[in-house]
Amino acid sequence: MREDTSVAPNSLPFPDGLERDGIALRRLRARDAHAFAGAFRADPQLGVQIGADEDPTENGVRRFIARQPGLRARGEFLGMAVTDASKRPFLGHVMLHTLAWRHRRGEVGYWLVPEARGRGIGKAAVSLVVEWAFEELRLERIEITTTPENTAARALAHSLGFEEEGVMIARNLERGRRVDVVLLARVRDRSHNLPA
Ligand SMILES: CC(C)(COP(=O)(O)OP(=O)(O)OC[C@H]1O[C@@H](n2cnc3c(N)ncnc32)[C@H](O)[C@@H]1OP(=O)(O)O)[C@@H](O)C(=O)NCCC(=O)NCCS
Repeated sequence: MREDTSVAPNSLPFPDGLERDGIALRRLRARDAHAFAGAFRADPQLGVQIGADEDPTENGVRRFIARQPGLRARGEFLGMAVTDASKRPFLGHVMLHTLAWRHRRGEVGYWLVPEARGRGIGKAAVSLVVEWAFEELRLERIEITTTPENTAARALAHSLGFEEEGVMIARNLERGRRVDVVLLARVRDRSHNLPA
């Protein structure tokens, strides 16, 4: 398969106003850095689960937040804070990444601060970005990857209609160990491969 790195990327607009059932997505703000980095201290498994090389520091998070406009302009990455109707608290992070514009494909990632989990917030937040990416970005395939033991991440993906396509054996090198990765996907139009 050809890789599409030579194709000029589209830029990623910020989807203002995404909100459902009291859950909203907004831009990351510098003042989110404290809660963002704090989540990795509160849940030492979080960095492992999202496949980060190391847990972020507050200063590292501030630099990451400052890079967001450039990443969007280059069509590489869209990061959003999960919040409530007040738009104030930082409850988690949802992101669109690994975009392959030529194939109209991208990947969604997600994590919540520990105290926000288990109440439907993740499902609401991820459904907002998935629907927006299908409708407004006109992506045709959205992928989610996680590790086989991440029951919550898999359950959330299933609850939004993502199907498991298989396990990629020893796909990633994360924190010094090779890990298996489950691939899940949802397509906008399931009739793509039906005979005309
Ligand atoms: C994955 C994560 C974002 C889920 O968010 P959440 O708000 O807790 O999930 P929700 O409450 O919206 O639940 C969504 C669905 O998953 C199910 N689910 C959630 N956690 C579950 C668990 N631990 N075990 C089984 N099912 C679970 C819910 O029952 C729900 O299914 P339903 O709609 O069919 O009832 C959250 O657990 C998290 O931040 N985990 C740590 C970070 C992480 O692993 N991110 C993914 C990396 S790939």
